[in-house]
Amino acid sequence: MVLQFAIFFKYIEYIDYTLKKNKFRDNKMSQLANKRHMAYNSKPDIDKKDIVKPILKWAGGKTQLLPEIIKRMPHRYNKYIEPFFGGGALFFYAQPHNAILADINPELVNLYTMVKHKPYEIIELLKKFRNTEEDYYNIRSQDRLSLSLEMQAARTLYLNKTCFNGLYRVNKKGEFNTPYGKYKNPNFIGCICSSSRYYY
Ligand SMILES: C[S@@+](CC[C@H](N)C(=O)[O-])C[C@H]1O[C@@H](n2cnc3c(N)ncnc32)[C@H](O)[C@@H]1O
Repeated sequence: MVLQFAIFFKYIEYIDYTLKKNKFRDNKMSQLANKRHMAYNSKPDIDKKDIVKPILKWAGGKTQLLPEIIKRMPHRYNKYIEPFFGGGALFFYAQPHNAILADINPELVNLYTMVKHKPYEIIELLKKFRNTEEDYYNIRSQDRLSLSLEMQAARTLYLNKTCFNGLYRVNKKGEFNTPYGKYKNPNFIGCICSSSRYYY
């Protein structure tokens, strides 16, 4: 079953507001798009705070291809629909105001839903996680469905950032079985801060 959910960014509600209220619609949109595009292209004097990076490392993620995809993207559209969301590289770049996002992976859908509604709770949970091999295998062995939805989201993020290569792999029983990644400083909190600032 394809799970669907919508994300509405407050940030873009502001744009919507200006769109309805006055004639600066296209101007405002293209200014923002240009600003992000310039920041993406790493001009040294551009403030990068408008860029939102994907929360997860994801196999098949389109971050490397973004410059080519962006070139082909329409300047104006009503609803952004992404049926195979994964890491959502283009979505986080484009920050559409009205979107339908779908993915067959319920862990992913829960993670994004929880980051949208309860980012602070997830950050607090993640602060208690440690990046050691022992903790990794303990957390990996947990029965995901026995955990609260917030804890499931924190676990998904933790495993993604600390497992080998961010690889999402499950066995026939649906249990996550990617080995530990041995990274020194995986950042499993900063990625939430970056994306969630657009919700408030
Ligand atoms: C390669 S990833 C998408 C990458 C994404 N565009 C990005 O930039 O990160 C493919 C995603 O499609 C999802 N998927 C595969 N088959 C699906 C299906 N039948 N319905 C919905 N999602 C599906 C997978 O769970 C996976 O997250």
